[in-house]
Amino acid sequence: MPVLLISSFLAFCTNGQLQPLAAQTGPFQVTVLSSPLTSLVGQDVNACGEHFFLDTTAGGCTFCAFGSCATFTNTTVFFPGGFNLMDTMVPGGQQYFVGPDGALSYTAPHSAAIPPGSSFDIEAFQGGLFVPANSNGWLACPVPGPSQQIFANLNGVVFPANCVSVSLAVNAVPSGTVGAYEYV
Ligand SMILES: *[C@@H]1O[C@H](CO)[C@@H](O)[C@H](O)[C@H]1NC(C)=O
Repeated sequence: MPVLLISSFLAFCTNGQLQPLAAQTGPFQVTVLSSPLTSLVGQDVNACGEHFFLDTTAGGCTFCAFGSCATFTNTTVFFPGGFNLMDTMVPGGQQYFVGPDGALSYTAPHSAAIPPGSSFDIEAFQGGLFVPANSNGWLACPVPGPSQQIFANLNGVVFPANCVSVSLAVNAVPSGTVGAYEYV
């Protein structure tokens, strides 16, 4: 029997009716809300090398040689706007998606290339969760260095036994924030 998970981070109750939370429309950061590995809770999800990682220090791998570099926060900021965009200034933009191996990923600057079998179906709820569709939530998997990589727990993909589940929260940042000129 399927288990129906009702979380206050996906929906809220009014007059006895369950209402879905609204979609996040402005820029936001993503942070670990809960995990059996409690040391991960509160860590930010950072972009680097076209993938996403948890770590306690860096704001992500960013580059700026053009425009108002000093105004960029150099942190990993998402900007859904219906197009799964990262919050950048680079012409053409950068999009986030789930790759066929489950890896939460983003496109390289000046490229729209995504691997076949990727999915853009990721929801971000205002004051709620960041959720991958068609999967069993997110996983954090250890990678070399003091870091964990973020994957959607896709059906049909086998993950290492040392991956742990994480739920990810949407943390809105002020309108007008630009995370980076581009993520590299
Ligand atoms: C972000 O990095 C750029 C250089 O790429 C720098 O000019 C700017 O001051 C940095 N922003 C912050 C908030 O540190």
